[in-house]
Amino acid sequence: MSQSETGTIFYGPIVNPKSLSSFQTLPRCLVAVGPSGEIDWIEEDVPKRALQDILAQHRSLDVPLLTLKHGEFLLPGFVDTHTHAPQVPNIGSGQQYELLDWLHEVTFPMEARFGDVDFARRAYSLIVKRIIDSGTTTCCYYGTLHLEATTILAEIVNGYGQRAFVGKCNMDRNSPEHYVEPSVSESIDATLCLISRIRSLPQPRLVEPVLTPRFAISCTSDLMYQLGDIARADPSLRIQTHMSENLGEVRKTLDLFPTASSYADVYDKHGLLGQRTILAHAIHLEQDEVVLVKERGAGVSHCPASNFNLRSGVCPVGKLLDHGIKVGLGSDVSGGFSPSILTAIQQASIASKVLAMQAPIASSGPTRYAGHHLPLATLLHLATLGGAQVCGLENRIGSFAPGKAFDALLVSVRGDAANPGLWGVDLVKELHAEPADKEQLDTWLERFLFTGDDRNIKRVYVQGRWIGGAEHDPCGPGRS
Ligand code: GUN
Ligand code: FE
Repeated sequence: MSQSETGTIFYGPIVNPKSLSSFQTLPRCLVAVGPSGEIDWIEEDVPKRALQDILAQHRSLDVPLLTLKHGEFLLPGFVDTHTHAPQVPNIGSGQQYELLDWLHEVTFPMEARFGDVDFARRAYSLIVKRIIDSGTTTCCYYGTLHLEATTILAEIVNGYGQRAFVGKCNMDRNSPEHYVEPSVSESIDATLCLISRIRSLPQPRLVEPVLTPRFAISCTSDLMYQLGDIARADPSLRIQTHMSENLGEVRKTLDLFPTASSYADVYDKHGLLGQRTILAHAIHLEQDEVVLVKERGAGVSHCPASNFNLRSGVCPVGKLLDHGIKVGLGSDVSGGFSPSILTAIQQASIASKVLAMQAPIASSGPTRYAGHHLPLATLLHLATLGGAQVCGLENRIGSFAPGKAFDALLVSVRGDAANPGLWGVDLVKELHAEPADKEQLDTWLERFLFTGDDRNIKRVYVQGRWIGGAEHDPCGPGRS
């Protein structure tokens, strides 16, 4: 019987996010993944000598058992709540620009190239694979404005088996002549066509469409009203857009919408601000906008690498969290220079430290996050469960629990022949004795999050299927 018919049981250390302020480290955990890719059961602490008994109790002695090596652990897959697939070929270029010039000088010219479907197919195959191998198991993708290229993106994502939201940009004004939609009706027709094409992709399908008004500057009011109508008529559709990223952008938006009381109010008036909305950046919000975003139940994608790189500002994530707003992380390539959520974690930590240095807040009082650096548990939460909440998937992904999908990373901090320790010493052999305990696992997690990279991500699983990672051989049998 193949593994996909029986599922797999994993035995070893796991790290399991629980809340904004806590995660579990379980050095001797059993996680049973069923044939459909869902977690059947978890036993949190199983000594080696009790293994066979526990498996027998669960009638699972014949299910393939994968025992993690010393120095390996399982972590829920990362959720990237905001990225631009067609900008990946641009990463690292155009560092000198701020947002609006960067869009016109660097970004739109690259996106326009995706009008060529052959180019789009070749580029997106490499891009999506790279994002998966970086540990992103769920991704919110912006495509370009092109229907055909964005369909190809969705097909490729589906072919790899990644969980994702894919949207084509709506942009019918304030864009270059060669890269703008000619009318509201064409933008809407292409959007509806993409939605139905994505929903007809072959099963198993983990890709969903998402409405993607690029940002208020590039959309006419008519276009946004019609997108709001589509969202209202279809309660399963998510919406993604940019908001309050750059001060020049905020000013221009308020000039374009003189009757709106704020940037957030622009989206709200057009029916685009609700529980299913993913707002990238949200750096420069006024207090009434923070309250409105919370009231509407929208989520924020915090994109710290991009925010530093484009000199957009430092998002007050602690303040948003203190107001109970859902927050996840976004790579925002190529505003951000890395497709990896590990980079987003590192930069989110630095962003919070910058704010804490500028305006430290004593830990007493109702404030819990503002004015402090974000602790490890919070950073991990943003990258996993927080992202899941922003996508409305908190009951399916983001942590390990029976009934949830097994979207996971098999992480290794071992050195090996090809890679004798990313840290100059083999973290496992030199620093820790076998078997791992909770304290070691905490250390491994912190070192991985702050200094690890794709080489440490040996396997990437989505819905129980092994779809990527450093050990993945796309031609081999390695799917479970
Ligand atoms: N605002 C509108 N479009 C974009 C984009 O492509 N990237 C970023 N960072 N901000 C935007
Ligand atoms: Fe963006």
